[in-house]
Amino acid sequence: MQKTICLLPGDGIGPEIIAQAVKVLAAVNERFGHCLTTETALIGGAAIDAQGVPLPDQTVEACQRCDAVLLGAVGGPKWDAIERDIRPERGLLAIRKKLGLFANLRPAMLFPELAHASFLRPDIVARGIDIMVIRELTGGIYFGEPKGFETRAGEQAALNTMVYKRSEVERIARIGFETAMKRSKRLCNVDKANVLEVSQLWRETVIRVAADYPQVELTHMYVDNAAMQLVRDPSQFDVIVTGNLFGDILSDEAAMLTGSIGMLPSASLGSTGPCLYEPIHGSAPDIAGQDKANPLATILSLAMMFRYSLDLHKEALAVETAVRHVLEAGYRTGDIMEEGKMLVGGSRMGDLVAQKIGETS
Ligand code: NAD
Ligand code: IPM
Ligand code: MN
Repeated sequence: MQKTICLLPGDGIGPEIIAQAVKVLAAVNERFGHCLTTETALIGGAAIDAQGVPLPDQTVEACQRCDAVLLGAVGGPKWDAIERDIRPERGLLAIRKKLGLFANLRPAMLFPELAHASFLRPDIVARGIDIMVIRELTGGIYFGEPKGFETRAGEQAALNTMVYKRSEVERIARIGFETAMKRSKRLCNVDKANVLEVSQLWRETVIRVAADYPQVELTHMYVDNAAMQLVRDPSQFDVIVTGNLFGDILSDEAAMLTGSIGMLPSASLGSTGPCLYEPIHGSAPDIAGQDKANPLATILSLAMMFRYSLDLHKEALAVETAVRHVLEAGYRTGDIMEEGKMLVGGSRMGDLVAQKIGETS
């Protein structure tokens, strides 16, 4: 197969982890006889430094002419004082919006080998953790207008607007139900309908869409309770559908159940055009440049790309299996390290996964 992947390494640990995914891509090409090539473009702070904006037009064009996009991470202290409109994070929000990537799939799955790395009690972990958080990605309070700073009753105020149109809720709800149909046929809608009008419309819409999926058991949970239940008993969840901000927060929380945020991949999907794949974590400035970053979230994001964008299911499985084998063999980056295991840097971890893919051919 001949396809092109646009790489957006970004900032902090971004370039390090993308480099590991590229090794894995090369191993997949070799083993399966594909010609999956890459192009690299600037985003975030790296783009600000080079061109003054976090998402140059050439980057959007590069993404649009490729078959899928793999992103590292954006942001860092260097750009924290910059005017909000051109911060690195704006580049990421803008590329999601430009590509119409309204559905963000964030699977939180515990590799059995990492059971001890979970921060939960062993008896809770033993019940199993395999959750798919579906986060709406191009609406809600992240994008609502009006927003900004203003004067209210003589003092400075700031505002953001949480707004969802019915059509926006309907399309993400459908992704939720379709995903549930392929899994356990259970869907938990998470909102704040006891307080927010936006959530009332959200919940009513989800209930309407449910009529088309009579086999799916739909439940509702307020977001504060969901945050608590995720830690109390994550095994009760299968597919969660929720809005942009709630999904951002709950997916970081879910990450810790599985051991480390360095393990969790994501897929950002739209209805047409290329989709984007990225780890859910950020640019980790505290460990950048030290070869400490866990590249597995990015490598597993590449596997999601194979599955969702390129229809390469055997290849996706090969990558996931290689990750499992490397963990089984006892190799760990610092974030998932435990006694008796072998501590490796991010680069060695990338080599090990790539090597495993080669070995199993
Ligand atoms: P972060 O996810 O970058 O880091 C949080 C903690 O997790 C840090 O201690 C970090 O060392 C650790 N961590 C993250 N990824 C890791 C990995 N792969 N391996 C090992 N440890 C890892 O979140 P933050 O510190 O709140 O944000 C730092 C910067 O990243 C900010 O500028 C923020 O805006 C940005 N950010 C970007 C994205 C993105 O690009 N998708 C996501 C979140 C945050
Ligand atoms: C994420 C990040 C981003 C978000 C930021 C950096 C814009 O936290 O991808 O989870 O809030 O969506
Ligand atoms: Mn986040």
